[in-house]
Amino acid sequence: MDEGIGGWVDSAQAWIEGQGESGDTSRQIILDPCLRVVLGDLTGLSVLDVGCGEGRYCRVMAGRGAAVTGVDPVPAFVERARTLHPSGTYVEAFGESLPFEDDSFDVVLSYLSLVDIPDFRAGLREMARVMKPRGRLVIATISNVSSTSDGWIKDEAGSRLHKPVDRYMEDFAMELEWSGLKILNYHRPLSAILSALFESGLVMDGFHEPLPPESSEWYANEFRVPTFQVMTFRVG
Ligand SMILES: C[S@@+](CC[C@H](N)C(=O)[O-])C[C@H]1O[C@@H](n2cnc3c(N)ncnc32)[C@H](O)[C@@H]1O
Repeated sequence: MDEGIGGWVDSAQAWIEGQGESGDTSRQIILDPCLRVVLGDLTGLSVLDVGCGEGRYCRVMAGRGAAVTGVDPVPAFVERARTLHPSGTYVEAFGESLPFEDDSFDVVLSYLSLVDIPDFRAGLREMARVMKPRGRLVIATISNVSSTSDGWIKDEAGSRLHKPVDRYMEDFAMELEWSGLKILNYHRPLSAILSALFESGLVMDGFHEPLPPESSEWYANEFRVPTFQVMTFRVG
């Protein structure tokens, strides 16, 4: 594991400022509405958010009745999450080595953190391990068709021609830079992710490619190639 946790230590402040209370636009209009439906009624459930960042979605789930635990390896995120939500439980740890007993949580969530976890097989194995036997795992992640590249190929006028897909079958890290952040994101083929989960004894019971509600120029691109996917699993 690198010292800077994939660039997140140096990028933490910019991330906190960029997320605010409502998250970025993609979260607000694409992922949050899908997750609300997929997660359903959280009243009284214990929920673990792996790679919780500064805890925005933990606070959302707590507001819907869940007893939340957030885990993140970046100290500044854990400190911020504790400050903003003192009644939540926030733990500094890596997804590859979760400091919880087997069968601990009703729901385990990874909200755009799987692409940040270097050893994704260990991370997924750990998520499966800490789920209760009747628990659920929900993974919101970057679509595997979008995660091999950093954006669209454009023509001279700046119109988007297509999103490139290459090195799809490889597992590799890509450096991304935006709004004061510089981090690593990992692409893996979907088959590798699903195999790791199936080998951990989980079965898939939902797969979504969530779209925004409207069609402005920016949103229209989502109807051409989705940026996100949301997958749900149960113990088989
Ligand atoms: C894109 S942010 C998402 C944060 C939050 N889930 C959200 O949606 O706002 C990715 C998060 O993954 C965390 N992360 C990086 N390496 C990790 C690892 N090995 N295990 C768990 N989380 C990790 C980062 O610190 C960061 O908080």
